[in-house]
Formats: sequence, C-alpha cells, structure tokens
Amino acid sequence: MSHASPRPLEIAHTGPLTGHLTVPGDKSISHRALMLSALAIGESRIEGLLEGEDVLATAAAMRAMGADIVRDDDGVWAVHGVGVGGLLQPEQALDMGNSGTSTRLLMGLVASHGITATFTGDASLSARPMARVIDPLSTMGAEITASPGGRLPLMVRGMNPAVPINYTLPVASAQVKSAILLAGLNTPGITRVIEPVATRDHSERMLAGFGAELTVEESAEGRVISLVGEAELKPQHIIVPGDPSSAAFWVVAASIVPGSDVVVANVGLNPTRAGIFTALRLMGADITEENARIVGGEPVADLHVRHAALHAIEVPADLAPSMIDEYPVLFVAAACATGRTVARGAHELRVKESDRITAMATALSAIGVETEEFEDGLAIQGSGGALLPGGGQIASLLDHRIAMSMTVAGLVSTHSVTIDDVSPVATSYPMFFQTLDELREQAL
Ligand code: S3P
Repeated sequence: MSHASPRPLEIAHTGPLTGHLTVPGDKSISHRALMLSALAIGESRIEGLLEGEDVLATAAAMRAMGADIVRDDDGVWAVHGVGVGGLLQPEQALDMGNSGTSTRLLMGLVASHGITATFTGDASLSARPMARVIDPLSTMGAEITASPGGRLPLMVRGMNPAVPINYTLPVASAQVKSAILLAGLNTPGITRVIEPVATRDHSERMLAGFGAELTVEESAEGRVISLVGEAELKPQHIIVPGDPSSAAFWVVAASIVPGSDVVVANVGLNPTRAGIFTALRLMGADITEENARIVGGEPVADLHVRHAALHAIEVPADLAPSMIDEYPVLFVAAACATGRTVARGAHELRVKESDRITAMATALSAIGVETEEFEDGLAIQGSGGALLPGGGQIASLLDHRIAMSMTVAGLVSTHSVTIDDVSPVATSYPMFFQTLDELREQAL
C-alpha cells in the first residue's frame, strides 16, 4: 500500500454544523463482504463498499489469492470468487497497511488453506498483538512464524485439512472470533467459538447470508457459534449500511457545537455496534432515529442530532464491546459535559491502532482538559459546555480515530488545535474533511 506523507491540520472553533450527510459504508461489513464474496463461486455484487485504505488492503489481498475484484463505474463492486478451499498461493507478501481487521481475518482464511502467506504492515499494525489469533489458528494446525512478541511481519503456513476446535474467547474480540470462523469454513467438521461477552456479529450474519450452516445459541458460558465446515458459499448481492463508527464523529460534533442540527443518514444500528448512541443519550444528547429500516440484513436509521447540554456519566462497562472504537470521540463529548465522566473496563483500547487511553489522555491534556488515566480507562473533567482552551500540538500516532476525534475537539477549542498528521483518516473515512467543510458551509 502507498503510505501518504504526513498531512498536518490546524483546526479552531466553528459556528453551528448543519445539514444532511451520509457516512461511508461500514468498515467491518465491507471487509467481510469482500472476503466471503471471494470465497463464493460466481459473481457477488457489493453496493456501498467503504473505499478506504483498510478495505482496499483486503481487496488487494483477496486478488493476490485468486479472486477477481473490480469496481464498476456505478460504484458497485463485482467479485468473482474462487470457492472455499480455492485460495491460491500469493506471490508476494500481503501488505495490510494499518488494518488489524484485514490481518486477523485473513490469517484465519489462510490457516485452513494449503498455502503460505506473509503479512506485513505499517508501524502501528506491526506493534499490535497477534498472539490472540496465532494461538487458536495454531491449534487448528496452521504453522505461524511471527516476529518477537507475536507481531508482524509474520508468516502463516496453512494446514489442509485443518482441525476443528471448540474455542472460548479469552478476550472480547470480533476479530479473533471471525478469524476462527473463517478458518472453520474450509475445515472438516464443526468449528465452535464461545464468546462470554457478545461482540459485533457481522461475520455470523453474513456467513449465514452466504449459505453457510451456522447456529448461534445462548448458554451459561455465553454465545456459542457453531459452523459446519467445508461450506459452499453462494454469491450474494450485498448492500453495506453506513458505518456507525464514522457517524459517531458527527453525532458528537453536532451535540457539542452550539446551534448544530444535523441528519446523519443511513447509519447501521446493529445492537452490537450502537453502544455509543446509548452512552451519548445517557449524557443527555438529543438523538432521534428516523426512517428505521432493515438494509442488507442490518438495522439502519437516519440519526437527527441537535446540540444539547451534556452531563457527565459513569460509562457502563458492559457497553464497551458495542462501542469499543468510539471511546476516543466519547472522551471528547465528555470534555464538553458538565462534571467528571469516568470510563472503565475498556482495557482493549490499549491495543488498537494506538494505545487509545494514553493517546487521548495526552491529546486532551495538551488542549487543557483535565484527565486521569487508569489501566482500563479514563476520567475526564468536562468544561460544562464552555469552549475548551485548545492550542495544543497533537500526535495522531497513525491512528485515524485519534485524528478525527481531535478534529472534533478542535471545533470547540478557543485556540486552534494542531494535529501533526491527519492522513490516517483515509484508512476508514476518506471524505471526512470534505463532509466537515460541507457541514460548516451550510451554516454560513
Ligand atoms: C473489528 C473488531 C474490533 C474493532 C475493529 C473492527 C472487526 O476489534 O475494534 O475496529 O471488524 O471485527 P477487536 O476484535 O480487536 O475488538
């Protein structure tokens, strides 16, 4: 993947944000749509695919393993798959860029095919733990040679036939769950994943949609997902809903910038993803759902958001799995609320594209917000609705969500906030700054 040169940004407080916007396709669903389409025999069509760098890394990898993937002029992606078991040996290392989801899910796919693939990535991805997928995939028979600490670059030598496993997730991770299920697709017998805490269920929904035999049961141990291997996937027409993780930036921005009134259309509201909206409502946010509907098997609505006076909360720890990517922007909302918000039980934030607890504590402190860091979360003293001091120098640390969250913080800062590099935003939301300009202009 090409890595953009650093793009600094200076951002200061703004007038109201108004207007109607759409967010790009859901990143998690986009990765899975490409992967499963590439394993179906025949042509699948994907509408609304997120065309961000992370998803393009998945597309490039699936092409390198034999799938035919083209973007039609109308923006619909056509994928001719190779069939489960049909992945080809990639000729070169698979460059995963910044994308943990691509890496972990594709490691699962390779693990049960008789091929070998090397995975490389940028500095952020190369610092992230892969043992969580190496362990179960090794038990299934794959031979994985990783860099020290279980990091990238690493090589996966798949095993065919692989061995089915029953695996209880030691961390709440949809990526680990999905890696095992994807490995299970080409494994004889039943692969079973037990998740004590429910995580995003896009893989389960989409596997069933492609015709895999998959059951989900609730048990005393948690959700039990059983997949019958050696599956035959049938090509599908997939419509990808808008990404709630991308919508969250505008929902928070409209909530904290006085006078704002914004409609974010076509937002995926799968309950395993929508925790941020629950948390913001607990803080007093004014968010109404309009046009609730089902799109591509996922609940979707338009979110109408108006500025509101927010108050501090203790963020319920059981919301963590359904809002794990949204903590950085929630912390920005908390910085503008009345009182001290405390978020605990979110230790996983330390192993995202950056250590998001330290990254956000440092970034908010740099713009004059008082924070207290915990091993598993953050406390933030809110401004009571007043502008934040601002003026700081922020390091985005190759983390798109730090860059976008601190841009939102800049919108309510007295002195302009400087972010060293907003180019990582292209991994998940290439049009983010264009949309911001539009929301600001409409209010002029
Ligand atoms: C994702 C799962 C989550 C999330 C990531 C996308 C997925 O990661 O943070 O952005 O698509 O499965 P974990 O599985 O590490 O929690």
